[in-house]
Amino acid sequence: MSSMRTDYCGLVNEAQLGQTVSLCGWVHRRRDHGGVIFIDLRDREGLVQVVCDPDRADVFKTAESVRNEYCLRITGVVRSRPEGTSNANLGSGKIEVLCHELQVLNASVTPPFQLDDDNLSETTRLTHRVLDLRRPQMQNNLRLRYKVTMEVRKFLDANGFIDIETPMLTKSTPEGARDYLVPSRVNPGHFFALPQSPQLFKQLLMVANFDRYYQITKCFRDEDLRADRQPEFTQIDCETSFMSEQDIRDLFEDMIRLVFRNALKVELPNPFPVMDFATAMALYGSDKPDMRVKLQFTDLTAVMKDVDFKVFSGAANMEGGRVVGLRVPGGAIMPRSEIDAYTQFVGIYGAKGLAYIKVNEKAKGRDGLQSPIVKNLHDAALAQVVEQTGAQDGDLIFFGADKAKVVNDAIGALRVKIGHSDFGRKADLLEDGWRPLWVVDFPMFEHDEEADRWVALHHPFTAPKEGHEDFIETDPGRAIAQAYDMVLNGWELGGGSVRIHRADVQSKVFRALNIDAEEAQLKFGFLLDALQYGAPPHGGLAFGLDRIVTMMTGAESIRDVIAFPKTQRAQCLLTQAPSEVDEKQLRELHIRLRNTEPAVKA
Ligand code: AMO
Ligand code: AMP
Repeated sequence: MSSMRTDYCGLVNEAQLGQTVSLCGWVHRRRDHGGVIFIDLRDREGLVQVVCDPDRADVFKTAESVRNEYCLRITGVVRSRPEGTSNANLGSGKIEVLCHELQVLNASVTPPFQLDDDNLSETTRLTHRVLDLRRPQMQNNLRLRYKVTMEVRKFLDANGFIDIETPMLTKSTPEGARDYLVPSRVNPGHFFALPQSPQLFKQLLMVANFDRYYQITKCFRDEDLRADRQPEFTQIDCETSFMSEQDIRDLFEDMIRLVFRNALKVELPNPFPVMDFATAMALYGSDKPDMRVKLQFTDLTAVMKDVDFKVFSGAANMEGGRVVGLRVPGGAIMPRSEIDAYTQFVGIYGAKGLAYIKVNEKAKGRDGLQSPIVKNLHDAALAQVVEQTGAQDGDLIFFGADKAKVVNDAIGALRVKIGHSDFGRKADLLEDGWRPLWVVDFPMFEHDEEADRWVALHHPFTAPKEGHEDFIETDPGRAIAQAYDMVLNGWELGGGSVRIHRADVQSKVFRALNIDAEEAQLKFGFLLDALQYGAPPHGGLAFGLDRIVTMMTGAESIRDVIAFPKTQRAQCLLTQAPSEVDEKQLRELHIRLRNTEPAVKA
């Protein structure tokens, strides 16, 4: 296989008994057993046990000097491990290699941590990323990532898609985040933006008759980071011409099913269930509901309009207010401390409290209900609560009452939290496995209260559903888009839409968004121009590759499937980027810095 080695360490096996092999790798562990030294030698494929015995003085002497993470080349003979010492966890666990030659290719300083330590802080791991990446878990993650991209490429290639690169130095593409800007040296005072997505270029490629495009490409968004977000991340970005929303969803559903089958040996349902946005918000308070959790909202807004409890009646009568109940089967046994912890938890989402009722014995009417708020709810309201939530004896009902957004965020998060809690698992409120879902029929616009204007929910190039074009200007809140998101276990894996392919409709949307003709021409003139040359009906979507692989590996953060990720503070601990630059460089870029606070180093 190479002039240096005959095999990978982790792949040597019983079939090679008696053969001489040459292996290269790193010292995972060295054990000195009196007369004999064992070296676990590790490479990409795993570990093999190398035995150095004192008969070969030169080998033994070198073996005594090696330490963890030394890089070695060994030659030796494959033999069975003695009775009772085989290791079922290793591919090479039945054999060992008796070392004849041992060459230190490179020594290593003492590593800052033991590679099989599972309790490393993220700071340690990211600072010493190279060593972290040597760990089997990270090796597996990145190889799975490669497998996924290969399966995606094979599928798209077989379906007539071609990979076309689009610029990294470009103009702002509005996807709702801040841009990363790059100053232009040769055009003083002018800036490129790194793409938030290739959205406009892929649309132009459809106008340019490429019919089916894809690209697995970096996107850049300067936004608040969380476990499922990075400032630079990778999209599987796709666009097609002459396909309906249904055609597009069917095709990409097939792709995801195939990827899960081939990369993970998981069979996803066929077809994926489809839910409209309004239902998702009504039942789960989220447009990416985790369908494994068996809890649903009951809307009680109408029921609470005339109750004495002001928190409820106030929200029920407020414009844009909402009152919901979340029935937790078997929840009446929850101790006060757990309810208090949930009350604190919903506070993160802006909820001002978390009312609850324990249903001890519903046949007894109000006397069978245990709660600090029961006294402020009249009999009819209480009866409706029990009936509409379907509560049984032994259940608990949590309540959220506030502006709809606060209720949806808070009780939506509570639903997931309870489902995944120890209680939720014991009470069978959580299903195992994979629950994909399409969420469709998103509104085109949402109202930004602070700025008092309409903003695009997806992006402003999304087409209205048939019959909704007129609402764009007359009643923007009513206009439904031909947009869709693919959701899996509570994560948005991807999303897209059918696009606007007529310049007049695109202009209407810009007007609804308060972008006047002059500004539209300045920002998106190239798109509006292209739409005038017989632009075909087109649409597509983009998946978050990092998120797909994160879900597949079960990792907690997308940082675990990216070789060199950034921290929550958008810093790279390995290279110390971003960093200050020379005055000379700034001068060339025509930039003078304002007084800034020095960055906090993580
Ligand atoms: P959208 O903004 O929904 O759509 O992005 C598509 C998918 O990209 C992933 N994603 C991210 N992953 C990691 N870190 C981030 N900061 C991040 N932001 C987004 C998500 C998401 O579903 N141009 C449109 C697509 C289209 O209409 O075709 C777009 O970018 O998984
Ligand atoms: P209070 O009348 O403020 O003592 O609240 C009575 C109960 O209602 C407590 O259990 C609070 O946690 C709960 N509560 C207060 N505000 C809200 C709200 N906006 N939504 C749901 N429950 C609330």
